[in-house]
Formats: sequence, C-alpha cells, structure tokens
Amino acid sequence: MIVVTGATGNVGRHVVEQLLAAGESVRALTRDPAGARLPARAEVVGGDLTRPRTVEPALKGASALFLFAAPGTAGPVLRAAGEQGVRRVVLLSSSAVTYDTEGSDNAIVAYHREIERETEESGLEWTLLRPCGFAVNTLRWAPRIRAGTVVRGPYARAEMALIHERDIADVATRVLLTDGHAGARYVLTGPEALTQAEQVRRIGEAVGRPARYEEVPPDVAREEMVRDGIPADFAEMTLRFQAGLIGVPTEISPAVEEITGRPARTFDQWAAERAADFR
Ligand SMILES: NC(=O)c1ccc[n+]([C@@H]2O[C@H](COP(=O)([O-])OP(=O)(O)OC[C@H]3O[C@@H](n4cnc5c(N)ncnc54)[C@H](OP(=O)(O)O)[C@@H]3O)[C@@H](O)[C@H]2O)c1
Repeated sequence: MIVVTGATGNVGRHVVEQLLAAGESVRALTRDPAGARLPARAEVVGGDLTRPRTVEPALKGASALFLFAAPGTAGPVLRAAGEQGVRRVVLLSSSAVTYDTEGSDNAIVAYHREIERETEESGLEWTLLRPCGFAVNTLRWAPRIRAGTVVRGPYARAEMALIHERDIADVATRVLLTDGHAGARYVLTGPEALTQAEQVRRIGEAVGRPARYEEVPPDVAREEMVRDGIPADFAEMTLRFQAGLIGVPTEISPAVEEITGRPARTFDQWAAERAADFR
C-alpha cells in the first residue's frame, strides 16, 4: 500500500494513476474526498496535512509515502508515518532550494528547505524530488491567450526549463517502486530552457494562432499582480525570483531520462496536449 498526499494536484493525480497502472494499492489523501474525482480503484481517504492526527489513519499499514510539501506540516506527518510502519518517503520539493541567485532567500524556499531537512531526519528511507517550474504554471496566461490579447508580464527574458508534471510523476513512481534511490536529491527539469516570451510564442503555435508576450516594467507588473488578487509580498517574491532567471545559464538535468529510461517531455508536447485550454 502506497499513500499519496496532494493526490488531487497536478503531480499527485498522475502518481495515483501510474501506481495503479503498475498494479499497486493506492491510498489517496485529500481534504475533500467527495470532490476528489480520483480513480475508483484508489482508496480515497480524508485528511489534512496541517492536522497530522487526521492523516494517521491513512498511514496505517502503508509501506511508502509520496509527500506533498504543505508548509510547516512534514515533521509530525513523518513521525506518524514511522510509527505506522512506513519505510520509504518521496518528497515533492523544489529546485528553488538549490538556488543562490537574487530573490532566492524567500519564504517558499525557506519552507521547502525546512521540509527537506525534516524528511532527511525522519529515519525513513528518503528521496527528495526537486523539480523546477511546472509547464502547467503557464495556464495563468490562458485567459489572455484565449481572448487573443497580448500576454503582459515582467521579465520576458526570464528563462526556465519547464517540466511536464507527468515527468515528475513518472520519476516519483519509479522511486516509490524501485530500490537504489535512498538518500538521493534529484533536480528535475524539462529538456530545454525557454524564455517567457518564447513559451508564449510556442503556446500560440500549438493553438494555431500567434500569441505574444509583452514585457512591462517590474513596478507595473507588481501593481497588476496585486490588482489581480496576488498578495503583495508574493508578487514581490515572484518578481525578484524572475529577475534572477535572466542571463544565468539554466542547467538541464538528465535525471528524468536516467530514472525513467526515456527523455523528458518537451514544452511543445505539453502545449500540444493542453492546447484546448488556450483556445
Ligand atoms: N508549480 C511549480 O512551478 C513548482 C515548482 C517546484 C516545486 N513545486 C512543488 O510542487 C508543489 C505543487 O504540486 P502540485 O502542482 O501537484 O500541487 P497542486 O496542484 O497545488 O495540488 C496539491 C494538492 O495538495 C492538496 N493539499 C494542499 N494542502 C493540503 C493540506 N493541508 N492537507 C492535505 N492536502 C493538501 C490539495 O488537495 P485537496 O484540496 O484535495 O486536499 C491539492 O490538490 C508545490 O507546493 C511545491 O512544493 C511546484
């Protein structure tokens, strides 16, 4: 039995499906079992990571845990996992923990570092997955691309090797099911670095209608983010983080291919699969 937390999320849903496809028994944790829309073969259980006692029943009799990094929650959940006999944990962390660029000393990086440390000290056999930005993040541009208007945002030249969320799940599934990954910290990226301007252009190609990114100054971007409901400190953090992605060579990790045995999916593949969301 493998417990998947964050099971209704971008990555967790694929982990559940892939473990089931591999013939594993899966217990999928969600705060809202009624609305979870998870496969019938998964055992869907209620639980909230911020209230560790509610997660304990889900851990009973499980051998492994896929852990979603909810801020401030990992310590007690990992202790409960050990007590319930769980032997292996695979943490969905973030490549941001490895950055030392301007803007990387932020709250998101700090809580991922803390959860990594708690995982390493859990006494379980642990593996850390450190993905970079998810391709699915670009859905934030969908309303403007659907409307045929230009995508406005900061730092058009900020560059990332966005990763297909299914590749993260493929790696997680392999690491949950096979030996030889204990104590590994895997940075996971897509196969090519693209600027934000190029990501928008490629989405336009997938949709079959030109799409364009228009850079706005950071101050304007900050105002627009706050007007769209993004908390001011998060907007500031995002801006500083993106500024740090300009002119710095993006490292492409071989880990997806090494672990799964096939190349990481390209951003073009992701955009083609999700083209309907942008039409
Ligand atoms: N997006 C990126 O670019 C990026 C980059 C690097 C790393 N990451 C890491 O990946 C994570 C996001 O993964 P994702 O996109 O798969 O997640 P997601 O789509 O945001 O979904 C996560 C799921 O976790 C569950 N959840 C949230 N808080 C919970 C709580 N307190 N207790 C129990 N379940 C809770 C929610 O399920 P229910 O509502 O069903 O309970 C939610 O569906 C980030 O948090 C970060 O750690 C993201």
